[in-house]
Amino acid sequence: MTREPLELLKSMARHAIGLGHRQAMEYADDVMLLPGNTYSDETQFALEMDRIFGRLPLILGPSSELAAPGDFKTMKIGKASIIVARDKSGQIRGYMNACRHRGVKVTEESCGNASRFVCPFHGWTFGIDGKLIGISAREDFGDVEKSALGLREFPVLEKAGMIWAIVNPDTNLTIEPFLKGYDEILALFGFSEWKFFSKRSFKCPNWKLSFDGYLEFYHVPVLHGETFGRDTTNRGLYYTWGPHQHIKTPDLTPDHVATETLGYMARIADLAEAEWDLETMSYGVWTVFPCISIASFGGGGRGVMISQVLPGENVGESTTYQYYIMENLPETQELADRAEAQFAFLQEVVEREDIAMAYSIQDTLPGSHIENLYLGRNELGNQNFHSWVAKVVAAEDDEALVRLFEQSPVAHGVPPKERAEA
Ligand code: FES
Ligand SMILES: [Fe+2]
Repeated sequence: MTREPLELLKSMARHAIGLGHRQAMEYADDVMLLPGNTYSDETQFALEMDRIFGRLPLILGPSSELAAPGDFKTMKIGKASIIVARDKSGQIRGYMNACRHRGVKVTEESCGNASRFVCPFHGWTFGIDGKLIGISAREDFGDVEKSALGLREFPVLEKAGMIWAIVNPDTNLTIEPFLKGYDEILALFGFSEWKFFSKRSFKCPNWKLSFDGYLEFYHVPVLHGETFGRDTTNRGLYYTWGPHQHIKTPDLTPDHVATETLGYMARIADLAEAEWDLETMSYGVWTVFPCISIASFGGGGRGVMISQVLPGENVGESTTYQYYIMENLPETQELADRAEAQFAFLQEVVEREDIAMAYSIQDTLPGSHIENLYLGRNELGNQNFHSWVAKVVAAEDDEALVRLFEQSPVAHGVPPKERAEA
C-alpha cells in the first residue's frame, strides 16, 4: 500500500464531500448486462463454490466472537463442515469437522468452549488445536501414524480483528496477497479490541442474489421508504481494493437515520480537515469479497453489523449471519436495549425488505423469459462484484488467480475511467 491508511480514509471522505458540495456523482462507464440465469445456473454455482469459496480467503467471523482460548464454532460452507477455534495458546485454527477414523462430525454443537472433541462414534479424541490425542482401544486398533491423523487443517489468519481463512486444506495459496491492503484500512476501526454483542441468522435465496442488496444504494429510498425514509439517498460512491469495496454516499443531507450505515459525511462536511474524526470518516458500507458486508450503526454506542452470506448446498439457498460487534459493550440496560432495538431494526430491514426482493427474483426469473438483467451506471458496486465473480471463476489455476489479484488496481476516489491506470 502506497499511502497511509488514515490518509486514504481522509482522501475518500474529501472526495465524497467534494462531490456532495457540487451535488455531483460518479458513474460506471456503461450499463452492464447480466445473464438472466446468473442466480440459478447450477453449473455456474458449482464453479463458484469450487473456484471462489474453495480457493479465496473468506472472513469466517470477527475475532471477538472467539475471544477466549477454547472458544469454537462450527460452520457449513458449501459442502464443507468446519470448526474454527482458538487454541490454548490463543492462536486461531480452522479444520474440517470430520473425524479421521471414519469421517463422523466430531462435534454437533454450533458453538461453545472446549478443551477437546471426543468423536461420538468410537471415541477418538482431538485437541482444540485439531491434533489427534487419543485412539480408543489403541492396542486393538492396529498401527496408524497418530501424528498424521489430526483434523484436516486449512490456513487461517487473524487480521484487523477478523478471522480470514482459505477453507481448503490442500491449498497452496496464502491469504495476504488477496487482501490488497484492505485489511490495513479496516484495521483503523480497531476491531481487534471490540466486543462481541450478538449474532442472528436467517435463510436466504441464492448467495449472489442475497449479496447484491449490500452493493448499491439505488433501491434504498424505494424499498426502504417505510423504514429508512423516502428522503434517503439513492447515490453511492465506490472505492476499490481489487474486489473489495467501500461505499459511501456523496449526499450531504444532515443527520439521518441512515447516517452511519450509508456513510453520510454531513457531520464533518463543513469542518476543517484537521477536525474530521475517524468514526465519521469510516461511516458507510465496507464489503469484503465475496460475501461480507460491514456497516456502521449508532444505537446504544458505536458498533457495526457484519453480514455474512454463506451459500448453501444448492444454488437457490444461502444463510445470512449478522454479527453485531461494538467498540464497548453497553454499560447500562437502557443502552443495551437501544443496541438490541437497532439490531432488530437492521434485521427487519434486511430480511423483510432486501431478502423479500431476492426471493421474489428467485421465484420469477427462471420462468420469466428474460434473457438479461441490467446493472445501471449508478450500480457500479454490483458491476464490480459480478465482474469479479466472473474473473475469479475464469481463472483456471492458482497462477492465473494470483495474477488476477496482482494486476487489479487499487483505486480510491478516482472516476471509473481513470481506475484502469490507477
Ligand atoms: S468415526 Fe470418529 S472415532 Fe470412529
Ligand atoms: Fe437494502
